[in-house]
Amino acid sequence: MNFILLKERHMMNKLPQQEENRRTVENRKNYLLRRQAQYQYAYEYANTIAVVRKLPCREIPGPGYWLRGGINLLQLIPSLPSLLVTYMRYLLGKPMESYRDYIFYPFSPPNPALVDNFQQDLIFGLQRVIGVNPVVLRAVTSQHPLPQKLPESEIQRVFAKYVDETDYATAITQKRVYILDYADLEILQRNPGQIDGGRKQYVTTPIVVLFLQADGILRPIAIQLYQDAGPDNPIYTPNDGNLWLAAKTFAQVADGNHHILVTHATRIHYVMEAIIMASRRQLYKSHPLCVLLNPHLRHTLNVNHQHTFLRDRKGRPGRYGELFAGDYDATTQCMANGMTSFDFRASAFPNDIASREVDNPDLFYPYRDDGVLLWNAIQHFATEYIDVCYQSDGDVAEDCEIQAWAHDIGARDRGRIPGFPARFASRQELAETIGHVIFLCTAFHSCIHFNQYKYPGFVPNMPHSAYAPPPVGKGAEMDADGLLKFQPAFRAAYSQTWTYFQTNFTVNRIGQYPLRQFDPAARDVIERFRKRLQEIEGRIDQRNSSRPVPYDRMNPRIIPNGVTV
Ligand SMILES: [Fe+2]
Repeated sequence: MNFILLKERHMMNKLPQQEENRRTVENRKNYLLRRQAQYQYAYEYANTIAVVRKLPCREIPGPGYWLRGGINLLQLIPSLPSLLVTYMRYLLGKPMESYRDYIFYPFSPPNPALVDNFQQDLIFGLQRVIGVNPVVLRAVTSQHPLPQKLPESEIQRVFAKYVDETDYATAITQKRVYILDYADLEILQRNPGQIDGGRKQYVTTPIVVLFLQADGILRPIAIQLYQDAGPDNPIYTPNDGNLWLAAKTFAQVADGNHHILVTHATRIHYVMEAIIMASRRQLYKSHPLCVLLNPHLRHTLNVNHQHTFLRDRKGRPGRYGELFAGDYDATTQCMANGMTSFDFRASAFPNDIASREVDNPDLFYPYRDDGVLLWNAIQHFATEYIDVCYQSDGDVAEDCEIQAWAHDIGARDRGRIPGFPARFASRQELAETIGHVIFLCTAFHSCIHFNQYKYPGFVPNMPHSAYAPPPVGKGAEMDADGLLKFQPAFRAAYSQTWTYFQTNFTVNRIGQYPLRQFDPAARDVIERFRKRLQEIEGRIDQRNSSRPVPYDRMNPRIIPNGVTV
């Protein structure tokens, strides 16, 4: 008994109910009241997404962060003469002549392997499972058949023509038919943007059908460019020559818009913004979960506060945001829709894999296969940590700070994250949520963010807008020059520079915690977590040595500890 009392007295990190006297309780409350005054909510993106009203100074990174950013950009210097020549040609009105002209930094090229192969069907298929947005792919099953807007009889005909291995009905039962559906982009399609003095931007709302080959790789076999079937909206197939290449470009444009506006900015950066706001406002600095989460929450508010999409004080829209295909209002509304249609619980890694029915082990899907290792390790870690901090479910229910934290994240007048638990009734529920938050800002963000230079960084592979209208019907003429017209002009250099800076810049690594700030039992939990991460590194290295294409974004060796850029 005495030993337990002694141990509690020396605990650095206490739950609010463990405070020993009125003075410390008052200090704690006053500290949080001051924080709540500093971190107030505002609503941006069509008055929908919660952001911090004024960025507190403590959220601005120190000189080390900016120095790293500067050194990162210095690596582009050897390529500047080449960039200057391209720019001069642009100023003289000379058009881009080939896709290779879109390598603006020849000494740091985005993805040399992609440059000559990006138009191949299998490269398109691979990007669904190893690219920047590996969470759109969905199996066609009896429970989730083809969307009604895609005529099934037509798809069966296409299937019979392009698939020798099996028949359509068998392929469905074996989970070998997949779709990508970009219906969410309708608002962009209806409200296209303009850039650089009136150059019109285009995006469509494609539905893509893919077949799972015997080697585990996905092959696209049909693309309908708009949602509603009709004579002007045929299903393009690999037999359609340049029209097929155009259809794939429009599918890539759609994926690029969905990747940033829905998956990346909205469902990672701004979900984390609400979680960070709640953490600053409701968790005392020595609350054991504040101590645990802090290393995962650094720099994000500062990153989100930049005028990437929103207008600045002078009313100018963000330079990067302008590259996307909708006009300003449509782009911001698309992000708002991405948030209101989000569900935190449903987005948990296993729930997402189950709901998209992408569990066929024959599918080459490293995001899924490595992701499950990370998800399980992080969940295990969170469970052990919670068990150290809370002796019972009652302790969780009694922790007024963590209950206020949950309320802040989901409440309509606070963080507005749909599907976030309103309160926690058990240790298990709390651990699942904390593990989910850590997975979101580490492993998931690693996959969604850091492949940007590799795939959309080579702009012809994934332009964020097309700059010529999509083909209308199978009778449309489309030569190589026509295909090149879909590409942006010199703005592509801006996009490539941006993605280079964003993806070549890391400041920390998953598993890094300042151990001295933790109590001894918690330190042991962290050490065990680090050991598990090390084992996963080895396992993923081993997997990569025999994969058709290596996938490293789930390797703990290169996963950052939060959304730091
Ligand atoms: Fe990011």
